[in-house]
Amino acid sequence: MDFSSAIPYLACPETGSPLKQGGESLVNEYGTKYEIKDGIPRLLIETKSEEEEKVRQMMQKFYETVTFPGYDGIDSPSVLMDKAQKSGFGRWLDEAIPPMASVLEVGCGTGQMTNFLGLVNSRKVIGMDQSIPSLLLGEKFKEQFDLKNVSFVQGNIFTLPAKNNSVDVLICSGVLHHTPDPYKGFTELLKKVKTGGYIVIGLYNSYARMPLGARKCLFKCTGGTMRRIDAHMRRKDVDQSKKEIWFSDQYRNPHESWHSVDEVLKWFEKNNVEFVSGVPDIGGRIEGETPQNQKLFADHPKGNSAQHILKQIGWAFTIGREGGLFVLVGKKK
Ligand SMILES: C[S@@+](CC[C@H](N)C(=O)[O-])C[C@H]1O[C@@H](n2cnc3c(N)ncnc32)[C@H](O)[C@@H]1O
Repeated sequence: MDFSSAIPYLACPETGSPLKQGGESLVNEYGTKYEIKDGIPRLLIETKSEEEEKVRQMMQKFYETVTFPGYDGIDSPSVLMDKAQKSGFGRWLDEAIPPMASVLEVGCGTGQMTNFLGLVNSRKVIGMDQSIPSLLLGEKFKEQFDLKNVSFVQGNIFTLPAKNNSVDVLICSGVLHHTPDPYKGFTELLKKVKTGGYIVIGLYNSYARMPLGARKCLFKCTGGTMRRIDAHMRRKDVDQSKKEIWFSDQYRNPHESWHSVDEVLKWFEKNNVEFVSGVPDIGGRIEGETPQNQKLFADHPKGNSAQHILKQIGWAFTIGREGGLFVLVGKKK
């Protein structure tokens, strides 16, 4: 197993010092060894706060059983490309990220996005997560299709085993809201982005998540029957096994938080990050853009708080049908 494409970006989670490959381990400058097992460096160490570590461990257990997103039927690069084409977001990311860029996806789950972005073989792409069963699915696909520029690594957002100021693009979608301190998680992620690099953050929206919250209460009261009132569970283009994984992720998740556009814009402001774009858009589109064709790394109007509130109320009826996840892209100044 050769990690030469990933090593320039990895660091010891304890000391932040560089790592070298020594046989079946990665080794820091003091000689501490981190095992590489089944192709995945085990660089996960505990979160420092005991309270937060309890939540992390609970989430690790959950995602070791619920390997999200489901991999059934994703058995070739063309299926991955087809999925990205349909979802829009993957395709827009692929169009926005330059071919020579380094990309770190934190909370990559089963690594479908990581592998998809790695189909451009001049990019260096690393998928990081704490769930080994999820990472193994990504690793299997990567090995099968010989994506040498892609690596999967086990790590914890709060003790990230990556060098500071090292990557051009950091993606973390659907993850921070499952951590005990999403803002702290954001600041940890940002440290890894180069100046002038992009951070792509996807979170549950406080307004758009409300319909799902109401359905969650209903399912609790009815013992999980009536699932068909959820639009995703009625979809004909998604395998049943993937729907089950989606249902568990959305309705049985032991820990989640909801966030507003203005809250995340404040995170950006406080940390010298310039707003670039939103999905859905938060202040209007730019010339030549359509809902099917968004330019994620082009500067967009930010809008104001009143516009954001109206937009987010509207999202309850659009993205709210699929869980209410919104994405903001920022540029590190
Ligand atoms: C809902 S899944 C999102 C997967 C993928 N990003 C996507 O959008 O399809 C959340 C992922 O975050 C990971 N995760 C949660 N807390 C984490 C932590 N502290 N460190 C690393 N990964 C974490 C979980 O293991 C899980 O795979």
